[in-house]
Amino acid sequence: MTDPKMSSTMSQSESSVLRVAVIGATGYGGLQTVRLIESHPNFKISFLGGERSAGKSWNTLFPFQRIAEDKIIQVPDPNAIADTSDFAILSLPNGVASTLVPDLLKRHVRVVDLSADYRYKSLAQWKEVYRAESLKYRRVDEDLCLNAIYGLPEWNQLEISKANLVAAPGCFPTASLIPLLPFLKQGLIECEGLIIDAKSGTSGGGRNPKENLLLAESSESITPYGVVGHRHTSEIEQMSAIVAGKPIQVQFTPHLVPMVRGLLSTVYSRLRDPGITAEDCRTVLETFYRNHECVDVLPVGIYPATKWARFTNKAILSVQVDNRTSRLILMSTIDNLLKGQAGQAIQSLNLMAGYDQIKGLPLNSFYP
Ligand SMILES: NC(=O)c1ccc[n+]([C@@H]2O[C@H](COP(=O)([O-])OP(=O)(O)OC[C@H]3O[C@@H](n4cnc5c(N)ncnc54)[C@H](OP(=O)(O)O)[C@@H]3O)[C@@H](O)[C@H]2O)c1
Repeated sequence: MTDPKMSSTMSQSESSVLRVAVIGATGYGGLQTVRLIESHPNFKISFLGGERSAGKSWNTLFPFQRIAEDKIIQVPDPNAIADTSDFAILSLPNGVASTLVPDLLKRHVRVVDLSADYRYKSLAQWKEVYRAESLKYRRVDEDLCLNAIYGLPEWNQLEISKANLVAAPGCFPTASLIPLLPFLKQGLIECEGLIIDAKSGTSGGGRNPKENLLLAESSESITPYGVVGHRHTSEIEQMSAIVAGKPIQVQFTPHLVPMVRGLLSTVYSRLRDPGITAEDCRTVLETFYRNHECVDVLPVGIYPATKWARFTNKAILSVQVDNRTSRLILMSTIDNLLKGQAGQAIQSLNLMAGYDQIKGLPLNSFYP
C-alpha cells in the first residue's frame, strides 16, 4: 500500500497545505526558512526545533519576525516531528542531522538537510572530511548517504521531486557549480587546473559566536581561510566529477569579507578551443539555464555584485574570456542564506511537494 506522506511526488492541489518542521529554527538558516514557509501559500510551520532555545516561544524570541500561530521551540524528538509534520528542513551543525534523519525517514517524514551530513555519496568520505564530527557522531547510515539526492535543483530536478532525503549543497559549491557545470558537461574546458576564488559574508559562519566573526576582527579587512583543503573543495569535486564523467580536482580558496550576507565566486579554467569567445560562452550558460528562473546570465562585460542577489534566491552569472591566456573566467554571486541555503531548500521542498520550484521564493532584489 502506498504511504500517503511518501507518495506526494505527484502535484499537490493548489489549495493543499503541507506541514513543515524546521529544526535549527533559531539559526541563520532556520530564520530564513521560517520566514519563507510562513509566507508560502502551501506550506505551514508545524514544529520548531532547537537546543539552547528549547522551551521558549518563537514570537517572544523573534518579535521582529512573528509567525501567525506562535510555537514553543522544542528539542527535536522524531516521534513528535512525525506526529505533526509531512516534511522537515534541518538547519543544524554538521553531524547533528545524522542523529535524526534515519528516525525521521522511518516515520515517513521527508527531509531536506542543509548540513553536509548527506552530501557525499560515501559515508567514508564524510568521515574523512568531517573528521572532528565523525568522532563525535558514530554513524553507520551508508545507505542513506548513497541514496540521498544532492539538492541542486537546476541539475537534479527530477530526482529531487521523488526524493525522501535531499542534501542541500553548501553555499560555496552552489555559487561555483552553477556556472562551472555546463562547461564540464560540454567538454569545453580542460579538467585540470581549475581554480576557484570565492568571498563570503560573515553570516556564512552561522549565528553561534566565533572570535573571527566579531566586528572588531572582520570589519575593514578581508582574509583568506581554509586555504588548501577547505571542506567544500571535495563537495565541488564530487559533483564536478559526476557531470564531467571523470575525476576532477579544484584549487579552492575562500575569503571572509566584511559584509553580512552575500557570496561571490570566480572560477578560472582553460578553454580547450582558444577560438571560443565570451559571447559563445554566454550562449552556453543561457542555453543551459533558459528554463531556470533562479539563474540569470548577465551580458558580456557586466560583472555581478553581491548586492544584486541579496535577499533573493537568484544566482547571477557573468562570463569573460581572456584570449591572451585562453582562460575562461566565470563569475557568480548568490545570497549565501537564500540560494546558498534556505531558499534553495524551499526550491527542493517545492519540487518534492509537486509545486513549481520557485513558488514562494523572492526573485527580485531590494536594491541597494
Ligand atoms: N550560514 C550559511 O551561509 C550556510 C549556507 C549553507 C549551508 N549552511 C549549513 O546549514 C547548517 C546551519 O547553518 P547556520 O549558519 O544556520 O547555523 P547556526 O546559525 O549556527 O544555527 C544552528 C541551529 O542549530 C540548532 N542546534 C544546534 N545543535 C542542536 C541540537 N543538538 N539539537 C537541536 N538544535 C540544535 C541551534 O539551536 P539553538 O540556538 O536553540 O541552540 C540553531 O538554531 C550548517 O550545517 C551549515 O554548515 C550554512
